[in-house]
Amino acid sequence: LGQNIMYYPICDSTQNIAAEKAREGAPHGTLVITEEQTAGRGRLERSWDSTANKGVWMSVIIRPEISPHLAPQFTLVSAVAITKAIEDITGCVAEIKWPNDLLMNGKKVTGILTELQAEMDRVQSIIIGIGVNVNQEVEAFDVSIQSLATSLKIETGSEVNRPELVAKILYYLEKYSNIYIESGFEPIKLLWESYSCTIGKRIRASLLKETLEGVAIGITNEGVLQLQLDDGEIRGIYSADIHLVNK
Ligand code: BTN
Repeated sequence: LGQNIMYYPICDSTQNIAAEKAREGAPHGTLVITEEQTAGRGRLERSWDSTANKGVWMSVIIRPEISPHLAPQFTLVSAVAITKAIEDITGCVAEIKWPNDLLMNGKKVTGILTELQAEMDRVQSIIIGIGVNVNQEVEAFDVSIQSLATSLKIETGSEVNRPELVAKILYYLEKYSNIYIESGFEPIKLLWESYSCTIGKRIRASLLKETLEGVAIGITNEGVLQLQLDDGEIRGIYSADIHLVNK
């Protein structure tokens, strides 16, 4: 991964550029990376705050030969890869909050957005968008999110070399993607669960039409969160915002 690099000092969103380049045939492993995004996007149509020169804002185009329904697991594969990279570079361990957030001290340090381009039940490309808050000070975050967001610098007390972090992320992304493609999700799932702050905890899941509360007991091989409700029923959660609850 990262043999072909497209660098932009500023752009609207690396995710948009990568989608366009993928449609135009950019090869597997293409990295689109920028210093600043004017329209960074997150999951569920949210905006993603992408301060200039302080973060890692990147999108990677991959073209695995898998069925489209296996694509969402790349979010979980990426979460493990980025956690490993952060651990190698800073010595600190982030926690994974299902499905796509990495937290430090309970605050979000990284978001992942995976988008699929498929045709006739074949994956054309998967675009893995990664946003890591790296060298921001607290004041760089809008007051409304200061209690929710953090950066590696805030948590570790030292400036982090961004190119080194990007190289490590690509290294682990390649490693864990290959494991996933060759051996399936099981080995990744074990790693994911070991870094997770969700499994074994009581959570509230806000779905489109309802809110469920219960204990997160695991994820399936498809990356679906298993929630055990108080009456014992187990529900599979495919997409939701989740919050840890104290009881
Ligand atoms: C989320 O937490 O909802 C996902 C955030 C993903 C942000 C990254 S930054 C690089 C790439 N370009 C974007 O516009 N979004 C992703």
